[in-house]
Amino acid sequence: MDHFISLKNIQTYVSSCINSGLFNTIDDTSAVFYDFNHLFYKIKLLRKAFPESTFHTTAIKANPLIKVLHEIKKIGFGSEAASKGELFLAQKAGFNNNKIVFDSPAKTHSELEYALKKDFHINADSIMELDRIAKIKKSVKSESTIGLRVNPQVGYGKIISTSLAGEYSKFGVPLKSHKQEILDCFKKYNWLTGIHLHIGSQGCEVELLLNGIESGLKLIKEINELLKVDHREVFFIDIGGGLPVSYHHNMSPTDIIEYGEKISEMLTCYNLNKLQVITEFGRYLHANSGFIISKVEYVKHYEESNTLIIHSGADILLRECLNPDNWYHEFSLLDKTGKLKQAGKTKNYHIAGPLCFANDIVARDVELPEASEGDYIVIHDTGGYTFSMWSKYVSRLLPKIIGINNDSYEVLRKREKLTDILDYWSE
Ligand code: LLP
Repeated sequence: MDHFISLKNIQTYVSSCINSGLFNTIDDTSAVFYDFNHLFYKIKLLRKAFPESTFHTTAIKANPLIKVLHEIKKIGFGSEAASKGELFLAQKAGFNNNKIVFDSPAKTHSELEYALKKDFHINADSIMELDRIAKIKKSVKSESTIGLRVNPQVGYGKIISTSLAGEYSKFGVPLKSHKQEILDCFKKYNWLTGIHLHIGSQGCEVELLLNGIESGLKLIKEINELLKVDHREVFFIDIGGGLPVSYHHNMSPTDIIEYGEKISEMLTCYNLNKLQVITEFGRYLHANSGFIISKVEYVKHYEESNTLIIHSGADILLRECLNPDNWYHEFSLLDKTGKLKQAGKTKNYHIAGPLCFANDIVARDVELPEASEGDYIVIHDTGGYTFSMWSKYVSRLLPKIIGINNDSYEVLRKREKLTDILDYWSE
């Protein structure tokens, strides 16, 4: 299988859904397609790359669809939840409590109490949170495994807004200045058994990710040295997510096998092979497993430029519109039957969304075959961090999400109805 969903498959998926009526060309002005076959391929590669004992989870925030979570659960993965809502989704998708990792920098007292009672795995984001957990643990029986998130301060990636291991981050305990406090916590709390890191998301080169993990391993060595007298040691390292994916055919995708091998080598080098590795990938699993199609409502030809008005903008592609230098996709053009429009005569188009603000523009100057009203723009590689970041601004309807599994199609989420909008804005 290729790294990307092929154009051939995209045409098959779209035309089949148009023909069967699953994609209703009147009411569905856009839709998200999610290809489970591609997800399973990524999962297989991930398993192959990491030591067998690794506990893999999916970052729910990248793709919270219950049917997607359910498939991931069936495969034996866990899930990483970053809010009460995501914890609820994880439970509803059927993940066992000990397969749910609870991360968030703002866990409330009652959320922590609930997580401890349910034996979720908890990564504390700060020493203040550890102290809170200690107090709650006095009155609650819990089998939760508990880790501490550190910021290894190994540097920023290419995208500042998704970089979390620079000198400052709102997440984790800064390692350089607070090493002693971290060591003290491990000495003080005998239930603290792991280290959690998340270097950043996209934009972080593999080398940066590996530097972060290496800092974590070095820290674990020091903690183990300290705990030796008590016959205790660190039991796990949670390396977070962050593996960058390729959104373009001219960008070579990260080699996950090589990444996994390098991590295994480091574990051996630090004599920490017994350490349980936990992963929390989101983008790696989902981004290339989905695409959006959006109807060309208008083609505006002006002296200055040509603009296609489509039905997907900053509501579903927030980063792409607000920070286009860092986030952009590949595009294709399908005719109204779902067939690829071949290049011949091409034009440069701005691809603009339906929202009421100036930079609701998904991409500028995209070369495409000549477009007509009723065609569909394909926005490739939009299976992660798109509909999960849906914005209600201008009260548009979240599009239908269609899943493809083997050769069958099913609706993973219905298109929103006008009454859903009313409910949302009502008391
Ligand atoms: N673990 C933690 C603690 C995280 O905060 C995240 C993502 C992940 C795992 C998964 O990272 P991934 O493997 O997906 O890179 N488009 C969004 C991305 C934010 C990512 C947030 N954290 C944005 O622009 O805000």
